[in-house]
Amino acid sequence: MWRGALLAPAAFAPVFQDLLSAEAAATSGFAVPGGGLWLVEAFFAKAPDGPRLQGQIDRLAGSLALAPPSLTLDRVPPRDWLAEVERQSSPVVAGRFLVHGRHDRGRWPAGGWAIEIDPGRAFGTGRHDSTRGCLLALDRLARRRRIRRSLDLGCGSGILAIAAIKLWRAPTLASDIDPLAAAETLRNARANAARPWLRTLTANGFRHAVLMRCRHDLIVANILAGPLVKLAPELVRRLAPGGRAVLSGILSRQASGVLAAYLRRGLRLERRLQLGDWPTLVLRRGPGIMPRP
Ligand SMILES: C[S@@+](CC[C@H](N)C(=O)[O-])C[C@H]1O[C@@H](n2cnc3c(N)ncnc32)[C@H](O)[C@@H]1O
Repeated sequence: MWRGALLAPAAFAPVFQDLLSAEAAATSGFAVPGGGLWLVEAFFAKAPDGPRLQGQIDRLAGSLALAPPSLTLDRVPPRDWLAEVERQSSPVVAGRFLVHGRHDRGRWPAGGWAIEIDPGRAFGTGRHDSTRGCLLALDRLARRRRIRRSLDLGCGSGILAIAAIKLWRAPTLASDIDPLAAAETLRNARANAARPWLRTLTANGFRHAVLMRCRHDLIVANILAGPLVKLAPELVRRLAPGGRAVLSGILSRQASGVLAAYLRRGLRLERRLQLGDWPTLVLRRGPGIMPRP
């Protein structure tokens, strides 16, 4: 791979970029801070003919009455891009779960604790501390509790809904405000043989007829502190007596505010996991407590 670069006045940079893109596999252009110049880069699969390209640049500059920019060419050391991408997306381990990408299919036994996730355009590879915190919390919960209905609120890629299905084989709702998430969640659920237990919805919080009539033994919500506080009254109402809420997406400094919103409504803090700056809260609704409005 070869890289060509030149500096051109901002107004003319796209013209030089166009010229180079006739031969290059990819080009880019961006402003150099503080000078009115752009750096135009072009990447070539094969060594380009430097003098010929410079001649074209000179002629183009002449036609624009500009001083000709000079093209520098460097060889970019070869890289195994596939290996690089795969290294970056190496499996994530959280408790008994191992979350891997599609390229790792077959390396880990399907149907066990391995979760295959291709997040597509949705959030949730398992790499973020908030997601890992939820996976750890679910894994620990499964050692003590049987869950019969669960809800993953803000499902993104569907990773937490799939984890819950792997643990409990129970009917699970996965909902997200982003309509893309439902499609990504269904695709991932199929790859993990979790589809039979899953139903997806698109909704802002609980604003959906199905969500407003169901109660769950488990609600996992990795959203953000603000929405979690706003959703507290309905989330608590949607928890069955004795049910657990696993809340994440909260920064350490926001944890007390989120916690207060839920404690005020009768939940008890059962566990707090801390990964980096991201706490995950596990809260329990008492068997007979009627949450305050
Ligand atoms: C941090 S991602 C979590 C994704 C995945 N559950 C995970 O743990 O990796 C938060 C998700 O919540 C969704 N979300 C944010 N606000 C929401 C709301 N009010 N109602 C439903 N979903 C919401 C976002 O679209 C996003 O997919």
